[in-house]
Amino acid sequence: DDEADLTTRPPVVTIMGHVDHGKTTLLDAIRSTNVTGGEAGGITQHIGAYQVEINQKKITFLDTPGHEAFTLMRARGAQVTDITIIVVAADDGVMPQTVEAVNHAKAAGVPIIVAVNKIDKPDADPDKIKQALTEYELVPEEWGGDTIFVNVSAKQRLGLEELLEMILLVAEVNDYKANPDKRARGTVIEAELDKGKGPVARVLVQHGTLKIGDAFVAGNTFGRVRAMVNDKGRRLKEAGPSTPVEITGLTEVPLAGDPFMVFEDERKARAISDRRSIKQRQSELGANSRVTLDDLFK
Ligand code: GTP
Ligand code: NA
Ligand code: MG
Repeated sequence: DDEADLTTRPPVVTIMGHVDHGKTTLLDAIRSTNVTGGEAGGITQHIGAYQVEINQKKITFLDTPGHEAFTLMRARGAQVTDITIIVVAADDGVMPQTVEAVNHAKAAGVPIIVAVNKIDKPDADPDKIKQALTEYELVPEEWGGDTIFVNVSAKQRLGLEELLEMILLVAEVNDYKANPDKRARGTVIEAELDKGKGPVARVLVQHGTLKIGDAFVAGNTFGRVRAMVNDKGRRLKEAGPSTPVEITGLTEVPLAGDPFMVFEDERKARAISDRRSIKQRQSELGANSRVTLDDLFK
């Protein structure tokens, strides 16, 4: 892409942290805070990700918290996250999965913001968390480092606005961009077989703009976008970079972490997905084996 074709897109944020440190509560708090703030007539629905708006700027949160989603996506080669929030309970401290989360984020080269949660608790000790995390090279700005720490209470909804502002600050510094004027590419966040709708995929559009009628490949499956809704339940005709959408019109159910890509027509999409199936079967059978058509239907 030419620099001139790129426009700023919302940052995509994941939340990780030790068990029970408040990942889900924080995601819910951020989401519901924003819902009461506007979005007329919007029925929020679970599509694996959601967007909030602060100071006229959007932030996309993957609301599949924890290491599973992050690890799965990365294992499948998907780079979906721009920024990671690591939640640490101020009454509990740095725990094994906290360290794991730090390592995941570092391995992915993703900036980390530490949300010190549960500061409402009487035994909360945010300084102890900061001290403990210096061992992992996360040094707060006020101690001469460059890691942003924000004290929050997901339960009492304290510090959420500051957290969102810090996310926007990191996004501004890194200036995440994409070209909206081309065929969409993205990643499948979740997918399932819906009794009424058939195969449904929640997709994060990362580049380009996804439109109704677009022919696409998702992993080893293909389809054509029949309908598209956002996290507020609103029907969309198109979705630009960093927008999470739920789509129907797939022939099969893809896997979370599968790459998603639009092609010029359905025949091409089908051919690509067939070739992908062959490649997958080949890798299952081993590099040196020959794959026959029969193998593909076993
Ligand atoms: P897992 O998904 O099981 O790893 O947990 P989690 O990290 O999603 O934590 P969750 O949001 O389920 O919160 C765990 C417990 O901590 C729940 O009982 C929450 O109500 C409580 N909790 C979360 N945030 C806060 C907070 O800011 N203050 C207090 N006092 N409790 C909190
Ligand atoms: Na929990
Ligand atoms: Mg949870």
